[in-house]
Amino acid sequence: MTGISKTVMLRDLVSSNKIHELPSHYIRPITQRPNLQDVSRDSIPLIDLHDLYGPTRSHIVQKIGRACRDYGFFQVKNHGVPESTIANMIHTARDYFRLPEEERLKSYSDDPTKTTRAGTSFNVRKETVANWRDFLRLHCYPLQDYIHEWPTNPASFRDHAAEYCRSARWLALELIEAISESLGLDRDYISRQLGKHGQHMALNYYPPCPQPDLTYGLPGHKDLSLITVLLQDEVPGLQVLRNGHWFAVDPVPNTFIINIGDQMQVLSNDRYKSVLHRAVVNCEKDRLSIPTFYVPSPDAVIGPAPALVTDDEPAVYRNFTYGEYYDKFWSIELAKEDCLDMFKTSDLSNSAI
Ligand code: OGA
Ligand code: NI
Repeated sequence: MTGISKTVMLRDLVSSNKIHELPSHYIRPITQRPNLQDVSRDSIPLIDLHDLYGPTRSHIVQKIGRACRDYGFFQVKNHGVPESTIANMIHTARDYFRLPEEERLKSYSDDPTKTTRAGTSFNVRKETVANWRDFLRLHCYPLQDYIHEWPTNPASFRDHAAEYCRSARWLALELIEAISESLGLDRDYISRQLGKHGQHMALNYYPPCPQPDLTYGLPGHKDLSLITVLLQDEVPGLQVLRNGHWFAVDPVPNTFIINIGDQMQVLSNDRYKSVLHRAVVNCEKDRLSIPTFYVPSPDAVIGPAPALVTDDEPAVYRNFTYGEYYDKFWSIELAKEDCLDMFKTSDLSNSAI
């Protein structure tokens, strides 16, 4: 990009200046601050996938179902993604964020419809307060449609990220099958609703922050995905809302955090909820997190599974295309509105559609 003279990315602002105070556009109004002293520590269920295809499958599926229903979040171990694949992904992501700003600005865009883009905060076109985060967002399935857009610097980026994406996809598909079964649906029911399927990945970089009480890495939000598979480094920052209270979920080595996204909430007709979560920052260490968002393709029609719609539990949502949802998601400010409200059958403004 040409013509950009001042710092765009947060990492470069933080590393080029001695920042002792938060620049004013990062400061949340008093009522929206994280209140870090009120956050408790809690663990979410840790599920061992080692025997997912063994004789105890139904037991593991049940555990997954309970975690989806009661928490909307769980961790998995023995997930089959090689440690080396994870380590390579983390290293290449770290190296990426250490590149000079001008190098990272080559993929800069504030247009959320771009399939590969570097940026800062979350959605700078919509938001009124900025978030303490830089990111690189990549579409990654089908891989051959997007890989030519990805950065070539660091030199190993494409190889390592592609290897990671393939593994994360397999894990997501296994979990989606297990979740489908846990709802009493055919194992492949959910996977068949996703059209050609889609997958995005974000590389989130949260620099150290001089006043973490006043801002967020990401404010409370729900994910647009069917499910999200989150890889993070060893620095805490993720918090999950449970029973009206924020809990910190600390990283456990060699596990992934899995959470239910909005599309699964709809397909399950509200049996499984997409839960509010947020990323907070700290004054000492930078933090890296890499969510994989497993999603339908834009033309896929998403709606409550007919088998989960009964007289007692009527359809909570109308059918919509994932493309329609996606446009809505990027047209609102994160944390200000609940994107799914627009698709509820009880919303009278939907009756003409
Ligand atoms: C996200 C997200 C959490 C984290 O990118 O959607 O929730 O810990 N990230 O970075
Ligand atoms: Ni999220």
